[in-house]
Amino acid sequence: MSDFDYESRIVSIPDYPEKGVIFKDITPLFADSDGLVHLVDDIADHFLGRGITKVVGAEARGFLVGAPVAYKLGAGFVPARKPGKLPREVYSQSYSLEYGTDELQIHKDALKPDDVVLIVDDLVATGGTAAATAKLVEQSGARIEGFSFILELTFLNPREVIAKEFPDREVYTL
Ligand code: PRP
Repeated sequence: MSDFDYESRIVSIPDYPEKGVIFKDITPLFADSDGLVHLVDDIADHFLGRGITKVVGAEARGFLVGAPVAYKLGAGFVPARKPGKLPREVYSQSYSLEYGTDELQIHKDALKPDDVVLIVDDLVATGGTAAATAKLVEQSGARIEGFSFILELTFLNPREVIAKEFPDREVYTL
């Protein structure tokens, strides 16, 4: 990993979207041409040479990270979308939120059993989105090589949640 200063390009917004939550706004990092180059290069260079054929990113901010990383790895990009957005047959996976549940879907033909997959997102908090995305990949029979995020909220222990269901997979955070 480079010693690039990601932190100064991420803005913390207190009490957004609700009181008591500190929102991490990654839009300044993406708006900074140096920031964008570094984040894409850091993630892609780390996983280069590991046979990754597909990058999977969850709606919506996972798309921002996933597509350029896939391009750099010479891999394809597969979006994991909220229900009702993909027009053909899908695999579905629901997951728990603090209040209630949500669901992600991928097209059934987007991944093949011989695909090697990197799962990316901008941020991992509880790990619920990452684990649900990984379960979608599993449904397709493809192999998960690892996970990568820009930001990790370590106090929520997302690595434990991911490791419980997907042990021995690397979690690489900038
Ligand atoms: C955010 C973030 C991750 C997820 C992480 O997305 O981009 O996808 O939350 O949280 P978790 O580890 O607790 O699951 P959000 O659901 O806000 O959707 P968005 O990208 O469409 O804004």
